[in-house]
Amino acid sequence: MSDISLVIGASSGIARATIEGLLESNADSLVVAVSRSSAPTELDGRCHWFKCSYGDGEIGRTLRKIVELRGAISKVFICNGLLHSSQISPEKRVEDIDREALHAVFEVNAVVPMLWVKNLKPLLRGPKPAVICVLSARVGSISDNKKGGWYAYRASKAALNMFLKTSAIEFARVAPSSQFIVFHPGTTDTPLSSPFQTNVPADRLFSPNFVANKMIQIVEKHISSKTGVGEAHFLAWDGSTVSW
Ligand SMILES: NC(=O)c1ccc[n+]([C@@H]2O[C@H](COP(=O)([O-])OP(=O)(O)OC[C@H]3O[C@@H](n4cnc5c(N)ncnc54)[C@H](OP(=O)(O)O)[C@@H]3O)[C@@H](O)[C@H]2O)c1
Repeated sequence: MSDISLVIGASSGIARATIEGLLESNADSLVVAVSRSSAPTELDGRCHWFKCSYGDGEIGRTLRKIVELRGAISKVFICNGLLHSSQISPEKRVEDIDREALHAVFEVNAVVPMLWVKNLKPLLRGPKPAVICVLSARVGSISDNKKGGWYAYRASKAALNMFLKTSAIEFARVAPSSQFIVFHPGTTDTPLSSPFQTNVPADRLFSPNFVANKMIQIVEKHISSKTGVGEAHFLAWDGSTVSW
């Protein structure tokens, strides 16, 4: 049985760099990508790609197909996230709150990752160490909120964080070899951050490759040291702890 590294939301800038980094660093493990989109034409032939619309049932069916690859899932990277779209802009004032936008942002940032956690649970009950690393954001920290604004994004990431902290408590009983990393990548040069990069100093705007490699190193360190099994760790790209 091979180790499987699973990258969900695989079309994201950070996810694509994560797939590259995993293929470079783990020659003997299987890298599996899941996305709403079809596999890109330039995809490395060693990566298995599954298309999924993220319905609850479809997530379960996709995971059953992945398990048929005859591997055990050891690393999961959940990269889905929504800050803006052609119809959605982050709110500056409460007057900007819009019901449909709130639903859409919560769906991508909190509901979809939690449905993956739900469907992964039965696969992570064994003794093999596993890490579920979910891309959150520092702005989802309630104690760190000094600037305000970005209501839907902040609140949906805070909801995601609470989903993961709560899941870690449950998994400590039923899947005690698994850990959760709630990961803040820092401002990373992808379509998600591109409209908001103007005031970011050049040395604080990271490339997706830089962030992905930091994230992979953190996940590998947690797998091998088994530190904090049964807990959720809210960590930034440099390994520092972010307050909840
Ligand atoms: N870039 C930054 O500066 C930054 C900073 C802090 C936190 N983050 C977080 O890091 C993660 C990755 O960000 P990124 O910058 O790489 O993002 P990105 O390039 O904009 O990618 C967007 C991601 O969201 C998913 N997605 C978009 N719309 C969706 C929908 N309607 N339903 C389900 N999934 C949807 C995509 O999945 P598919 O592959 O299925 O399309 C893709 O994984 C996100 O969680 C983001 O909040 C990013």
